[in-house]
Amino acid sequence: MNNKIKKLIAKKNRSKIICLTAYSKNIASILDKHCDIVLVGDSLGSVLYNYKSTKQVSFKTMIEHSKSVKLGVKKSLMVVDMPFNTYRTSKEALKNAKTIMSKTKCDAVKLEGGRKIYKIIKDLIKSKIPVMGHLGVLPQSAKSFKFKGKKLIERNKILKEAKLLEGAGVFSMVLECVESSLAKLITKEIRIPTIGIGASSNCDGQVLVTDDLTGLNSINVRFVKRYSNLRKIIERAVIDYKKEVKNLE
Ligand code: KIV
Repeated sequence: MNNKIKKLIAKKNRSKIICLTAYSKNIASILDKHCDIVLVGDSLGSVLYNYKSTKQVSFKTMIEHSKSVKLGVKKSLMVVDMPFNTYRTSKEALKNAKTIMSKTKCDAVKLEGGRKIYKIIKDLIKSKIPVMGHLGVLPQSAKSFKFKGKKLIERNKILKEAKLLEGAGVFSMVLECVESSLAKLITKEIRIPTIGIGASSNCDGQVLVTDDLTGLNSINVRFVKRYSNLRKIIERAVIDYKKEVKNLE
């Protein structure tokens, strides 16, 4: 296990973990100073390419964005999402995870799912590929983005899957849109850090899409707090530039 991962796990119950997404070098270099984890999320499909679903994100696209992100990351743990249909079998997952790790020089990969991909995750970890889990709403297969874990059956299933992933050896897991008391229970029951998105403050850390929290991407999602309006700031700069150029006429 690499030192960055050991340090991350050691933060559990000590200090909150900060995770944000980056899709390119300049943003990554800003995040790197302040984040524990920089995630190259396949959310880039909707944020940058207007795709309806992350299913449309290709392997090549993830690799190219990750290579750019790596240029800006020095100290943070860099995690790359394995895109849809790149980890259907252990053999496929291993081949693709190895390519991601070697081409992008990231520290770990993230896979969505629980019981269905347990064996695949276990095989990756056995082959020394560090894996981050992802439970709750799974955008690569989700039919709806409603909160998970309100019903008892679903609650028990997600809790079981969290323990299963821990047993498989993941070093951390994202809990996406998991009901607050379930997020609290999972966080208490497992020894690795949980990173929440729309899963309450009960997790060991939080993740958001950087373009959302900076206001570069205009979306309205209940759990996304906007901390600035980058669109306005950039537009102001463009208008000032335009004025100056016009004045040269
Ligand atoms: O794709 C992504 O950006 C993610 C995070 C939002 C957890 O998986």
